[in-house]
Amino acid sequence: MSSVAAARTPLFEAAGLALYRGDALAVLRSLPTAICDACVTDPPYGEHAASWDGPRCREWYVAWMREVDRVVVPNGPILTFAPRRRFDVFMSALREVRGDPPEAPLQMIVWVHRQGFRPAPGYLRPEHEAIAVSGLLRVSAEDALAERPGRGAVPSASRLAGAADDPDVLGRTVAATVGTVLATHRTRRRDRTGHPTQKPDDLVRLLVALAAPPEGIVIDPFCGSGTTLLAAAALGRGAIGIDRSMRACHIAVGRLRSAGVGP
Ligand SMILES: C[S@@+](CC[C@H](N)C(=O)[O-])C[C@H]1O[C@@H](n2cnc3c(N)ncnc32)[C@H](O)[C@@H]1O
Repeated sequence: MSSVAAARTPLFEAAGLALYRGDALAVLRSLPTAICDACVTDPPYGEHAASWDGPRCREWYVAWMREVDRVVVPNGPILTFAPRRRFDVFMSALREVRGDPPEAPLQMIVWVHRQGFRPAPGYLRPEHEAIAVSGLLRVSAEDALAERPGRGAVPSASRLAGAADDPDVLGRTVAATVGTVLATHRTRRRDRTGHPTQKPDDLVRLLVALAAPPEGIVIDPFCGSGTTLLAAAALGRGAIGIDRSMRACHIAVGRLRSAGVGP
């Protein structure tokens, strides 16, 4: 696996994985061009919406997406969770950076978790998150599923329709191909790290398996508790993670060490 070395010193580096603590834009700008095969990320929702006004929020999306586009090989896959409330702004930023050419089409996955919290009066209960997919996937769905990322995700919308409350069906792979609707449980209690927006290992593993070829390198500029790095390690990919929170970085390093990565 090629090196993931950059101009900065990572907080943690082992087995083709590097974790940088810092602002995503600043660290991305320090990385060489086209060193990654794909990006799988889960940017902060709300934080910037709260402190930046609308137009500047879009500016920030465009700024980090441009940097991700630069560090990923041309038209390499970028899979990113997208904020529900600013979905239109987010998608238009992604379209501005990447366009929608046949070699890098825009697609969308709906991740159904069906465990939404009680909403404020007048709001619908949130039961899904959108994952924007830009760029042709490097790995076929069959190959990605063959890597058996955990218990897998459920790619069949029709199966889901009859299985909304059946925990035995949610979370089981029921089709040989990956569709635009994936369902999993939220992160299981025993896997929780205390990071408030930790994503399920099974789901992120499937995204990494789809996006990055074996031994390729995936970047996550908002890596939180390190779920993408763990997925990469489990699947024999390299990874670069960035997070500005020292607490999140410590959680990520702890998880990697518990998984037997690094000293
Ligand atoms: C939605 S969470 C990612 C959760 C992650 N997918 C997981 O499974 O743990 C977003 C992360 O972005 C980090 N973050 C927020 N603003 C950032 C910035 N400007 N640069 C780098 N990281 C940032 C937060 O500290 C948070 O951990």
